Amino acid sequence: MPAGQGNEITLAVDIGGTGIKALLLDSSGKPIGERQRAATPRPATPAAILKLLDAMKNNLGQFDRVSVGFPGVVKKGATLTAHNLHPKWVGFELEKVLMRRWKRPVRVANDAAVQGFGAIHGKGLELVITLGTGFGSSLFINGILVPGLELAHHPWRKGKTYEDDFGKQGIERHGRKKWNRLLEKAIPQLESLFNYDHLYIGGGNAAHITFGLPAHVTRVPNEDGLLGGAALWRARPEHWKLTS
Ligand code: BGC
Repeated sequence: MPAGQGNEITLAVDIGGTGIKALLLDSSGKPIGERQRAATPRPATPAAILKLLDAMKNNLGQFDRVSVGFPGVVKKGATLTAHNLHPKWVGFELEKVLMRRWKRPVRVANDAAVQGFGAIHGKGLELVITLGTGFGSSLFINGILVPGLELAHHPWRKGKTYEDDFGKQGIERHGRKKWNRLLEKAIPQLESLFNYDHLYIGGGNAAHITFGLPAHVTRVPNEDGLLGGAALWRARPEHWKLTS
């Protein structure tokens, strides 16, 4: 089947504060070949990251389209915040720049939103949080993304934000035991705020959760951060981004 008729290969990219990953996916979201991973360059400017992405792309095979999970607010393809990268990302037209550079259609969304697309079931109110370098969050109503939800920098106790306590620095500062104690308190708080039907917890540090989770709260594999890239391309534009 020629490209454009349902067999498109997606180059899925996940830009993180610690590492950058890239993988080819078939249209059902199954990986093709090896995943590429490299440390996030410092300073993590757009120029440094684009240079690294070029090199990663050249190590992978042919692809028809690109999805990018970005660790900050994304609106209409532009990156508006990048707490764990570099101020030069503020207002950067990442989607347009990559489309010009790689001559392929590109979809850029917040990293927790892409992770969510890989994890959710598309029914009811589904909240996703990711525990990695930063604290990611995304909310879906019957599979439709509510763009722009940013819990990361919102204070939740004693003037500390979710990211202060649950991001990379939080787990390093508190140690795993206290981090778990705090997370066990934060989850019911999130539930009373959002009244979600289901909460998914992803990100590399979700593996450190030691307390029992209720049936409607599940851990999802960190790989969903990349695998959601194919699901992002299956979504109708108005179901994942603000189009006007
Ligand atoms: C950013 C979010 C992002 C999260 C995880 C936070 O610092 O503000 O937009 O989703 O980190 O990368």
